[in-house]
Amino acid sequence: MSTRTFLVTSALPYANGPLHFGHLTEQIQADVWVRSMRMAGHTVHFVCADDNHGTPIMLKAEAEGITPEALITAVQAEHEAAIEGFGISFDHYSSTHRPASKELVERIYRKLRLGGHISSREVEQYFDPERQMFLPDRYIKGTCPKCASPDQYGDGCEVCGTTYAPTDLVDPYSVVSGARPVRRSSEHYFFKLGDFEEMLKSWVRSGRLQEEVANKLDEWFISGLKDWDISRDAPYFGFEIPDAPGKYFYVWLDAPIGYLGALKEFAEREGLDFEGWLSPDSDTELVHFIGKDILYFHTLFWPAVLHGAGMRTPNMVHAHGFLTVDGQKMSKARGSFITAATYLEHFEPDYLRYYLAAKLGPGLGDLDLNLEEFPTKVNADLVGKVVNIASRCAGFIAKRFDGKLAAALPDTTLFEHFITAGEEIQQAFSSRDAAKATRLIMALADQANRYIDEQKPWVVAKEEGRQAELQGICTQGINLFRVLIGYLKPILPFTADKAEEFLNAKLDSFAGLAKPLLDHAIEPYQPLLTRLDAKSTKKLVVAPAVGSDTAPVLNRQQTRSTTKSEPTPDYKNAEPGDSMINIDEFNKVDLRIAKIVEAESVEGADKLLRLVLDIGEDEPRQVFAGIKSAYEPATLVGRLTLMVANLAPRKMRFGLSQGMVMAASDERGGPFLLRPDSGAEPGMRVR
Ligand code: MSP
Ligand code: ZN
Repeated sequence: MSTRTFLVTSALPYANGPLHFGHLTEQIQADVWVRSMRMAGHTVHFVCADDNHGTPIMLKAEAEGITPEALITAVQAEHEAAIEGFGISFDHYSSTHRPASKELVERIYRKLRLGGHISSREVEQYFDPERQMFLPDRYIKGTCPKCASPDQYGDGCEVCGTTYAPTDLVDPYSVVSGARPVRRSSEHYFFKLGDFEEMLKSWVRSGRLQEEVANKLDEWFISGLKDWDISRDAPYFGFEIPDAPGKYFYVWLDAPIGYLGALKEFAEREGLDFEGWLSPDSDTELVHFIGKDILYFHTLFWPAVLHGAGMRTPNMVHAHGFLTVDGQKMSKARGSFITAATYLEHFEPDYLRYYLAAKLGPGLGDLDLNLEEFPTKVNADLVGKVVNIASRCAGFIAKRFDGKLAAALPDTTLFEHFITAGEEIQQAFSSRDAAKATRLIMALADQANRYIDEQKPWVVAKEEGRQAELQGICTQGINLFRVLIGYLKPILPFTADKAEEFLNAKLDSFAGLAKPLLDHAIEPYQPLLTRLDAKSTKKLVVAPAVGSDTAPVLNRQQTRSTTKSEPTPDYKNAEPGDSMINIDEFNKVDLRIAKIVEAESVEGADKLLRLVLDIGEDEPRQVFAGIKSAYEPATLVGRLTLMVANLAPRKMRFGLSQGMVMAASDERGGPFLLRPDSGAEPGMRVR
C-alpha cells in the first residue's frame, strides 16, 4: 500500500460561544476519519482553530465590557478543554487572529490584487448613526413590508417567509442601539469570483466533492457567480486591508486562510515544509470537513481564492448534515442546546463518539440524537456486545492460567474471517462512512458472542481434564475482542487505550491486528465501559440560563446582539433565532375551528373534561382537556373553539385523546378556552 500525506481540517468554530453537539458532530466525524487513516498507515496532519473575527464577536465583547482579545482568549480556553475532553486528535489548534494568519491573508490578497481579481465600488448600506457603524442585515429589524409583522430581520420575514432587502423594512431600527438607521455609502472591495468560472467548473467535477454537492454547485453556476464583497468598514474586529485604512477583511475571507495559518504554525513547530504544501504540485492532500451550511464558501470562494493566489486547491471537501436533538433543531429555548462541557460533566466521551459515528454516513443527510435511544444503543452495542466478550473470558485467564493466553487459537478460520472482514471496514472508514464501519464491526461482535455462547467456557471450566480447552476458548475470545476494539479504535480512543492496558499490547495499526496474541500475559480485567443509566440523559437537556452559553470566566451583561454567528446574508442560510420557528414549521400545525358537540366529566379525573369535537370531518374527534376547573360541561356544548388537529393521538387512562383544544392561562388565571369570531365554521383552517 502506498502511503499518503493528508492535511486535514474541520471548520473553525466561532469564538463567540461554547462548542456544542453540532460542532462535535463535525469534529468527531473528522477525527474518526483521521484516526482511521493513521491506523491504515498514512500520515495525517490534522489542524483547526478558533474563528475570531467579525461583527458578532466585536459586539459580544462590547456587551460584556471586555476587549475582543479578552473574549477570544477566554473562549479559546473553553474550546480547547472541550476538544481535549472529546479526544479530537488535532495536531495543532490555533486561532485566526494571529500573525501567521495575518501574513497569509495579506500575501493572498496582494496576489489577487496583482492578478486583477479585486475590484472596488461604492456600496450603499444602512448605518447606525448612534453606534457609528454599518449594520449587517441581521442587525436591522423592522416591520415586514408584506404582512406587517413587527420585529422582523433585515433579510426576510419569519412570519410570512418573504425575503427582501433591509431597505424594504418599514420602520427599521438598529438591533445594536435601537436607533433608526440611515443610508450611507462607502467604498467596498470585491473578489471577482466570475474570473474563476472555468477553473471552478472543472475543479468541481474532478472527484473532490460528494455527488450531491457537485450537483448543487451546478445550480449555483447556472444562477451565475457574482462578485464577492470582501471588505467591511471600521469598526470591525479583523485584519485591516493593506493600503486601505479603515477597511477590514470580511471574516469569511480570512477564516479559511486560518486553516493555512494553523498549518503554518504547526509546520514551524515540527520543522516541516509549509511552503511546499502551498504549491500546486504538492503531493500532500488537503481535506476539509464542513457542515452543509458553509458549502458555498468552501467549494467556490475558497478554491478560487487559492487558485487566484497561485496556490494549491483542496483535494476534498466533505460536507455533513445537521444534528438535531430529539428531532428538533438545537435550541436554547427548547433546552435541546447541548454543550460539550455539559456532556463531559456527566459522561465518558466514547459513548457520544460511538453514537454519532454510528449515524454518520457519507452523505449530507441530517442526523438525530435521540436522547432515549442514546443510552439504549450504546449499552446494547458497546457494553452488551463488545466489552462483554472481554469480560466473559478474562476472569478464567486470570484465575486459572495466571493471566497467560494459550499458544494457539482453536478456531483460526474464525479469526481469519475477522481479519479479512477488516478490508471492508477500512474501506468504509476511508470513504467516510463510519455508519457502515460500525455496522460491519457489530456484525462481527455478534459472531464473537455466538462463538462464546456455543463454546460455553463456564461449562467447560467445571469439567475436569478440559483446562487446555478452556484456555483455548478464552484465548480465542480475547483475540476476537482485540480485533474488534482495534477496528473501533478510531471511534473509541479512550476505551481502546484502556483495552491496550488490559491486553498489554498496542493497537496502533490495522495491519498489526492480523497477528494474534498468543502465549502472552494479559492484565487483570477492569471494566472498560459501564452501562449508561437510561434516564441519565435528562441531565443533558436542562435548559441553560440566559447567556450561559458564554465563557463562564466572563463578566456577563445583558447582550443586545442576538445573532449566533457572523451574518452572511448572501450565502449562509439565515436560521431563525433560537426560540423562533419558520413559516414551514408553523405550517405543520393543523389548526382548525372545532364545534363542541359533547362535553362531560371524566370518572376518576379531577381536572379533565371529555369533549367530542366536530372539525368538519366524517368522524368527530374525542379530546380530553384540562379545563374542568373553569367550565360546567353542559355550557360548552354547541360552542366553537380552536383545536390542533394533527397532534399525535395520545392514549390516556380514560381513552384516546385525538388532538388538543386551545386555552389561555398563566399565573393570573385561566384556563380560558379560545373562541373564534362569529361567522367561523367547524373545520375551517386557522392560519
Ligand atoms: N466560523 C465558521 C466556519 C469557518 S471555516 C473557515 C462557522 N462556524 S460555526 O461555529 O458556526 O460552525 C462550525 C461548524 O460546525 C460548521 O461546519 C457548521 O456546519 C457546524 N455545525 C454547527 N451546528 C451544527 C449542527 N447542528 N450539526 C452539525 N454541524 C453543525 O460556520
Ligand atoms: Zn411578513
